[in-house]
Amino acid sequence: MGIISASNYDEMSDAMKVMKVKNYEELSKTAAEIMINKINLSSSLTLGLATGSTPEGLYRYLVQDHKSRHTSYEHVTTFNLDEYAGLNRDNENSYYYYMNHHLFNHINISPENVHLPNGNTVNLEEECSRYESFIEQNGGIDLQVLGIGSNGHIGFNEPGTPFQAKTHIVELDDTTRKANSRFFHTINEVPTHAVTMGIATIMKSREILLLISGKSKAEAFKRLIEGGISEQFPASILKQHPQVTIIVDRDAYDC
Ligand code: GLP
Repeated sequence: MGIISASNYDEMSDAMKVMKVKNYEELSKTAAEIMINKINLSSSLTLGLATGSTPEGLYRYLVQDHKSRHTSYEHVTTFNLDEYAGLNRDNENSYYYYMNHHLFNHINISPENVHLPNGNTVNLEEECSRYESFIEQNGGIDLQVLGIGSNGHIGFNEPGTPFQAKTHIVELDDTTRKANSRFFHTINEVPTHAVTMGIATIMKSREILLLISGKSKAEAFKRLIEGGISEQFPASILKQHPQVTIIVDRDAYDC
């Protein structure tokens, strides 16, 4: 994997760095390299992980690196951002299934160090507060990986979510259900609700890595860079986080 040269950085503010890369492969490799370097520096890192299409390449590189360079996840802990409500963990559209399939089954992470909200429980409210406190008791998240929805959502925090929200139940936007229906047989199968870390939960992470790829995210990237901070565009709050790196590919920044 290549070394990231400083010339790839665009300083947005003191805190937010934008790394422009040529394509999805480079985005995935660069993100993997950042994560691997951190794991090598601190073996007991706590990672916040995301799902969706965007981080699939990153996970592929992490698996490849684990197999070839033996980066160890023995002492790494993970917390996922979100989970659909009402899907069984072995449903292949659950995020639990996704994480095992793309990452956990292929690295030496201990199952007891892997955490996702349980979206398939009778008391979802209770699950939300359990998950929120559990992250805190664990000492918080060192590095949170994020994707972005075309409407600016992060995790499943849809436009209009209060910035002070902690882990909570959300009703998914029609646009989000439509976008995610590509993984299901029909749109009717896409759950209407999910459990997600809140914006406040995400903002407590010590560092954030936001991945933005493809033409369908170009508008969201532009709005993030040029727009103001508003609950109508959840990702905009990241401008107030002290340590954010955005990795964006050409399809998303050059439209
Ligand atoms: C999903 C997830 C988000 C993800 C986003 C973008 O609904 N809940 O965590 O970042 O939407 O997904 P994708 O990477 O597939 O475009």
